[in-house]
Amino acid sequence: MARRKLAAGNWKMNGLSASIAELDALIENASGAAAEVLICPPATLIAAFAARAKDGGVVIGGQDCHAAVSGAHTGDLSAEMLADAGAAYVIVGHSERRADHGEMNAQVHAKAEAAWRAGLTAIVCVGETEAERNAGKAEEVVGNQLAYSCPDGATGSNMVVAYEPVWAIGTGRTPSNEDIAQMHGFMRAQLVFRYGNGGNEMRLLYGGSVKPANAAEIFALSDVDGGLVGGASLKATDFSAIVAAASG
Ligand code: 13P
Repeated sequence: MARRKLAAGNWKMNGLSASIAELDALIENASGAAAEVLICPPATLIAAFAARAKDGGVVIGGQDCHAAVSGAHTGDLSAEMLADAGAAYVIVGHSERRADHGEMNAQVHAKAEAAWRAGLTAIVCVGETEAERNAGKAEEVVGNQLAYSCPDGATGSNMVVAYEPVWAIGTGRTPSNEDIAQMHGFMRAQLVFRYGNGGNEMRLLYGGSVKPANAAEIFALSDVDGGLVGGASLKATDFSAIVAAASG
């Protein structure tokens, strides 16, 4: 099965109801794109975005979910709620959740299983800090995150992995193309070892300072099946250029 490229936008804590104009522009620009196009807006906008995107070529996702179906968890959202609002994907284990909320691999693992329970595709995020890379431990760290954050039963249709080196997020810095290809090759080998052919069918996204100027060369690297994009996904013009790069 050929892996269809995925251009995913993570809006993080950005966007108000007026931002639907950006979604409209993106739907128009991305119509007919070869790549799959995903926007993960803040949870407050998921229902409105999903309703608007329903007949367009854009799918909508959440940025996080709780592992439980429901219960006394003030402020949290279950995967079922995201699905009910119209989400098809959910990001789990983003480094900002790991850092700001102390999320550990075991929680990320439970959230990925919750995503599947609700019929969502989980985008599991991994990535080393700068200190870990400088210490020569990038593969060890990412290998551990993969082993303990990804549940058994992952397939090419229920899980996407996003490699986001922490030091490349929002900094304008990216690893060299060789380093990205090396890490993606390493992740592919780990996933094939664990999941067999399913590991070949999973999409592996690169994230961290992807922008129109570098997207095409990054997406052309072997085992890079698209991108998870923060800042450059907020403006339809920039993100449309990234979608075009993923479709090229
Ligand atoms: P930037 O594209 O802003 O570096 O963010 C990447 C990211 O964290 C996407 O999840």
